[in-house]
Amino acid sequence: MTDNSFIKPADRIASFKPYYFASLAKKIAVLQENGVDIIKIDMGSPDLPPEKFIIDRLKISADSPNSHGYTAMGGTPGFKKATAEYYKNRFNVDLNPSSEVLGLIGSKEGLFALTQVVVNPGDFVIVPDPGYPVYSGSAKIAGGQIYFIPILEENNFLPDLKSIPESVLEKTKLIWINYPNNPTGAIAPFTFFEEIVDFARQHKIIIAHDAPYVDVCFDGYIAPSLMQVDGAKEIAIEFNSLSKSYNMAGWRLGMAVGNPDLIRYIHTYKSQVDTSHFGPIIEAGIEALTGDQSWIIERNEIYKQRRDIVIKGLKEAGFGVKAPPATIYVWAKLPAGNDNSLEFCNKLLEETGVSTTPGIVYGEFGEGYLRVSLGSSTEKIQEAITRVKSWVLTL
Ligand SMILES: Cc1ncc(COP(=O)(O)O)c(C=O)c1O
Repeated sequence: MTDNSFIKPADRIASFKPYYFASLAKKIAVLQENGVDIIKIDMGSPDLPPEKFIIDRLKISADSPNSHGYTAMGGTPGFKKATAEYYKNRFNVDLNPSSEVLGLIGSKEGLFALTQVVVNPGDFVIVPDPGYPVYSGSAKIAGGQIYFIPILEENNFLPDLKSIPESVLEKTKLIWINYPNNPTGAIAPFTFFEEIVDFARQHKIIIAHDAPYVDVCFDGYIAPSLMQVDGAKEIAIEFNSLSKSYNMAGWRLGMAVGNPDLIRYIHTYKSQVDTSHFGPIIEAGIEALTGDQSWIIERNEIYKQRRDIVIKGLKEAGFGVKAPPATIYVWAKLPAGNDNSLEFCNKLLEETGVSTTPGIVYGEFGEGYLRVSLGSSTEKIQEAITRVKSWVLTL
């Protein structure tokens, strides 16, 4: 047999573990084979479909003989125009569709690409902890140094910008923020956006605002865009997505908007990596962004009902929880006496079939919490919470 011990991962990925949800899926498959009735309230994948008019557009477009070739890299002019129209209607923000908008194959790839195009080895990237794992993962691959900034409950899950040491700031290229926030469900007041734009300008740092939950809001809350801050476009980029806003997570349709230089660098990078979307998906995305938006209010009502079921049940079970004003997540402090979230969630999964996400997956400051996703049917969520409640009593 050939000695193939030379087949090794590159140094920059050698220490990587599979994405948490990839390994969780394997574990769940084994439990299911053994007859365990699994309820997944872990991943943030909406269970509900997009509105019919969006799916109809996909079907009509797919029936057309000339919609099967490659489409424009970085999104068609029509998609960019639709994104600009959405930003104007939703936030009263003006964007130049050709220079300030880029189509993405889901926003996740855009987050990764941004880091690759601006971070040199040794540069610092400031990442919220807890936070979406791609911010730090992409920085590691780029050879960047990561400065984790805690976002803590006692500070309403906002970072304390003044706590960042000057020695870090001097070498920082990029700071990540994400509101409404995954995993905490927290929101940021507009004054925080103004503060961070000022701060980033002063320290010559790029702001990346990751905003896929901006249209999943409850109780009358309307989330702002960072682009509403005067001058934000000079130093910032915002990522948005149709995944959660329009229940289109599997369609892989997202966008980056803002600083034209950053948009151009990502476009160049992506043109070496991917070849854009299937045309009918783009067409349906345009329909979603520019068509009737009223169904989103009804959809958010469903999430709100689920949120309230989760909050009530988890409170009764001894978790520390507050109702989040936005996102599809409930971030809950484990009942007293439990501080290892991985152990807690594993045991919960094995003994009840309920799959949640341990807080530690999102960083050191996520330890002691778990995250519940509202992206399962109301009945399943109810059943899951009933199981969690009776299980906690046995601990
Ligand atoms: C904070 C955050 N950013 C980005 C994404 C990626 O979304 P998508 O790639 O589906 O647009 C997610 C998905 O869960 C998320 O929670």
